[in-house]
Amino acid sequence: MKIQIKRYTSEPEIKEEVLAYEMELEDPTLLEVLGHIKTTQDSSLSFSSGCRSSVCGSCSMRVNGREVLACAYKVQEGDLVEPLKNVPVIRDLVVDMDKAYSMNVRAKAWLEGSSDVALSPEDEKRNERQSDCIMCGSCYSACPVYAVNGEFLGPFALTRVWRYVSDGREEGEEAKIHNVQSNGVWDCTLCNECTLVCPQDISSKADIEKLRATSAQYGCMDPNFGSFGGGFGFDGSPSF
Ligand code: FES
Repeated sequence: MKIQIKRYTSEPEIKEEVLAYEMELEDPTLLEVLGHIKTTQDSSLSFSSGCRSSVCGSCSMRVNGREVLACAYKVQEGDLVEPLKNVPVIRDLVVDMDKAYSMNVRAKAWLEGSSDVALSPEDEKRNERQSDCIMCGSCYSACPVYAVNGEFLGPFALTRVWRYVSDGREEGEEAKIHNVQSNGVWDCTLCNECTLVCPQDISSKADIEKLRATSAQYGCMDPNFGSFGGGFGFDGSPSF
């Protein structure tokens, strides 16, 4: 079996290259392959991992341009392995997720209500998908908006905001909604790329649409509405 890995180092100078590796392994996961290469061929190969069971999210990377969890992905002949996009690469397949994680803080993606009140069974059911997010960063890597606007709050932060906005215990719903208007819910293009790559099958796109609907209930509208041509004049006639 032969695979290619995009290697990157900044020390002593910036160096980027795609290297090929060959091995005899039967039906391995990508994480098993990376471990095998590190222990038998090249100890300098750097990658992140933790749980080895799709729970911690630390082994997220790209194969043939698509985001995967290395511990879950079964390697195919000729695969090209690269680090996540839209985040700084530290070395090889290790990326710096600090900025993406900080979006949870900017978005205030936590419960600001009475956390001592028990969650109702309806809330529990409604929130079970969003609560499964493992913050692997695949959605930020696939997001074309985050690629061009590093201030966009991004998929997993907005999914977590919806998780708490839709929580019956949340007392700061309106403030939470107002907090995600700028570089937030209206900046998403609803392209669905985040949903397609999420290993937990969470649809951030759907969560953002729900945040938009709730925004409208609080009087917050798309700031671009009416400024991109098309729409209706004051007399009700179409204007372009
Ligand atoms: S090692 Fe934890 S998700 Fe892959």
